[in-house]
Order: sequence, then structure tokens, then C-alpha cells
Amino acid sequence: MGKSSKDKRDAYYRLAKEQGWRARSAFKLLQLDEEFNLFEGVTRVVDLCAAPGSWSQVLSRILIKGESIGRAAWDSRQAKDRLIIDGPSIEDPQQPDGEPIKEELKPRAGVKIVAIDLQPMSPLEGITTLKADITHPSTVPLLLKALDPDTFDPSMTSASHPVDLVISDGAPDVTGLHDLDIYVQSQLLWAALNLALCVLKPGGKFVAKIFRGKDVDLLYAQLRLVFEKVRVAKPRSSRASSIEAFVVCEGFSPPNGFRASLDNPLGAGTKLPPNPELKVEKTKPSRRLREDGITELELGSESEGDEENVRWIAPFLACGDLSAYDADASYHLPKDRQSLDPVQPPTAPPYKRALEMRKAAGGAYGKTRKT
Ligand SMILES: C[S@@+](CC[C@H](N)C(=O)[O-])C[C@H]1O[C@@H](n2cnc3c(N)ncnc32)[C@H](O)[C@@H]1O
Repeated sequence: MGKSSKDKRDAYYRLAKEQGWRARSAFKLLQLDEEFNLFEGVTRVVDLCAAPGSWSQVLSRILIKGESIGRAAWDSRQAKDRLIIDGPSIEDPQQPDGEPIKEELKPRAGVKIVAIDLQPMSPLEGITTLKADITHPSTVPLLLKALDPDTFDPSMTSASHPVDLVISDGAPDVTGLHDLDIYVQSQLLWAALNLALCVLKPGGKFVAKIFRGKDVDLLYAQLRLVFEKVRVAKPRSSRASSIEAFVVCEGFSPPNGFRASLDNPLGAGTKLPPNPELKVEKTKPSRRLREDGITELELGSESEGDEENVRWIAPFLACGDLSAYDADASYHLPKDRQSLDPVQPPTAPPYKRALEMRKAAGGAYGKTRKT
């Protein structure tokens, strides 16, 4: 498929190039932020499975440069709509000519961002990048050292200056064998969670890609053991036809007595001690109208009276402006439109060697070899 055809079939691929993002995934993080206000009060972040780096670009633009994108842009769009409907109020800052005052850049102090990926990642100013496998135990000390280079002690199992947010967009090379893909994806999620347990501060947040497979409820219930709030979100830029979604976990609160361990990581036989405070609460069905006009429905827990078998269903939210591009639709492009090159071509794609070998062997059909 050519660049131009992909531009038509994938509006977010085209927009990413036009707006300078290294990958279309940037829109997923921005749309998650619109809904969950992920970066409020956040200065220390770990970005797992980060290459080619569009999520790190989002972090850099919001935290380091202080740009108003994601939630901040959403809030100002809402304020503009209010102006049209209600007219200006005393709180709406305006210039004498009636135009809203331009947003200033608000860089944050003490920002620390560490990005990790198996693939090498082109540098981004202010971001520490590590080339490592998040499923390998040796990556945890590497991450702890990158976070706290001055105070790092190899005998410690957790960060001395813990982080506010861990994000993971990890995806294996999909094989098309669904059960295998879902299994490998779940292993990436466990590895990401294990790293998060070592570095998150109490109350911290964890956002990770999941594949909604058969037993995904179990995963939500497990996350609920260490986070006060677990929700599942599907950004508008994630294709509706894909089983991809994101868990958004807030309020990191491990059970009493739990210690993240590098020798016995979660997922390799670790049992969390029971914590009565974190029992799944039974909820009744309810309806709530939010300030922004959106109605939130709480379905309530299913079974009554059977304490042992309460199945906990994570709330599921679609996020991102519903009038934004549909990730599954094709869009007509003007005839004279120039197709742009990707902002950051892969630095060392896994198919590079295969291409070199094929070229050396004379091309796809052995016809291009020079004699
Ligand atoms: C969808 S891409 C991430 C896109 C990225 N969030 C961005 O915005 O540019 C998935 C990434 O997961 C990485 N990955 C897969 N398995 C990994 C592992 N075991 N350790 C580290 N990274 C891994 C891949 O190398 C790939 O770069």
C-alpha cells in the first residue's frame, strides 16, 4: 500500500505527519488525556514500549514545553463553546477587542521522563531513552538508575523518588493467531505493571494498552487489587474493529505488606495478600449528569448476596471528540494533495535485514541481480 493510499484510508496516519507526530498513536494518548486529565500535577513519568516516540513527544510538549494540548485544549474548546452559547462571563479572559487571550506556554519544574523500548529511539530533548526489554528482570535496575542517577542503590527494589505516571503502549509483532497475540500482549502488560509497582508513588497512575480477549475481566479485577479506580477506554483514533483498548488505573494503593520484588515479579507466582479494605464494592445502578453535559451510567455489580462470586466489571468509556475522524473510515483527499513522508522512519526495523538479504539475492523474483 502506497503512502497516498494509506493517507486516504487512515486519517490519523495522515494527520500525524501533518502535525509532526512520529506515530498516529499520539492521538490515542491525547484523547485519553481529554477524558481522564492524565497529566494534572504530573512531573515524573515512565513511557514503556515508547518507540518511535509519539507518546514521548506528547509528554515533552505538555510537561517540558508546557503546551496546551490534550485535556487543556479540550477545556479551552469547551470554554469557547460556552462563550458562543452563554456570551462572555467575568471569568473568561479577553483582550479589549473581544478576542480570547492567547494561551501562554507553562513548562513544569522538575520534569523527569524515561522512555524504554526494544528498538532504538531517536533522541527527544529532555527525555532519557533506554533500549531494553521490559519483560527482562535486568530492565528494572536500569530504569531505577535512569530515574535516580544520583541516589541509585543497586540493592534497592523501588525508586527513591517515585514517579507519578507509568504509560505503556506495548504491542508484540502481531502474528494473526489471536490466542497467541493476546497471550504475548498480556505478558507485556504484566511486565509493565511489575515495573510500575517498583516506581509508582502512592496515588500514582498507570495507563496501558490491552487486548480485550476472553478472560480480560480477570485482569481488570487483578488491577483493582492495587489501584483504587480502574477503567477501560477506547480512544476514537483506535480502530473500532480492533480489540485494542487501554486500562486507565488511578490511585495506586498496594495492599498492606505488599512489596514489589525483582526476584519474584508479579505474574511469576506472586500472591497478593488479601486486603479487606480493597474488597470489591457492590454498586447499585445509577445515572449521573456531569458538569460537561455527559451522562455517566453506573451499571451496578451483577450478583446480590454472593460475596465470593462478585464479578467486577470495569467501566468502559469511549473517549475523544465524537466528531473527530473515524479511524475505520476512508476519506476523500484533494487530487493535488502532496503525500508527506513519515516524521521519523523506523531507526532499525526488524525487516531491515530481510530486505538486505532479498536485495543481495537479486530482489523478490531474482530478476534484479546485476551480472
Ligand atoms: C505501538 S508501538 C509503540 C508506539 C509508541 N507508543 C509511540 O507513540 O510511538 C509498540 C512498541 O512496543 C515495543 N515493544 C514490544 N515488545 C517490547 C518489549 N518486550 N520491551 C520493550 N519494548 C517492546 C515495540 O518495539 C514497539 O516499538
